[in-house]
Amino acid sequence: MKDEDLMKIIEERISHCTACDLSKTRTKVVPGEGNIHSPIVFVGEGPGEDEDLSGRPFVGRAGQLFDKILESAGFVRKDLYITNVVKCRPPDNRVPHQEEILACSHFLMAQIAVINPKIIVPLGSTALNFFINGSISEMRGKFFDWKGEIKIFPMFHPSYLLRNQSKAPGSPKALTWDDIRILKKAYDEIKEKMK
Ligand code: URA
Ligand code: SF4
Ligand code: URA
Repeated sequence: MKDEDLMKIIEERISHCTACDLSKTRTKVVPGEGNIHSPIVFVGEGPGEDEDLSGRPFVGRAGQLFDKILESAGFVRKDLYITNVVKCRPPDNRVPHQEEILACSHFLMAQIAVINPKIIVPLGSTALNFFINGSISEMRGKFFDWKGEIKIFPMFHPSYLLRNQSKAPGSPKALTWDDIRILKKAYDEIKEKMK
């Protein structure tokens, strides 16, 4: 079966999923979007209010900052794949509970299996700890091995950057602007090899 068809089946299953209580309060599911052949997959925590209403990941305030971060390094959003650990909005944007993350995990793992990316970028602590246990502040901006050929490159969550607006050297924003450049360099090298 074609990758596009496999991803459609995953999205269809997400849209009917009632495996955890987040299904009771969601408006729309937010499966993820973008290029399913992207060598990089970005993974956020879970949909917020704007995402719940639109069914699309990272479209609210955090999403707009995320777009700016991507653009600053020369990334084109539609070339990438963007999703979340949980596909339904946690009420009041609370952190998803462990049982919700576990109930949803097979969807993210299936999406990763279809895309087969070279690099996964967990945004923030919840996404990082889905893949590898550790501290986002200590691990951001570095590459870690995960399952075979895949590298994990953690970055701060854009919502964290909205709460920490300083751009001084060493600030979360300054570090993130460094990280996205490192990621773009790795992306360009992967693209070059694929030619
Ligand atoms: N925050 C997330 O973690 N994901 C989104 O899609 C939007 C905001
Ligand atoms: Fe299903 Fe995931 Fe939504 Fe829970 S968050 S209902 S497991 S799709
Ligand atoms: N804590 C988080 O949960 N996420 C960040 O990005 C930074 C600190």
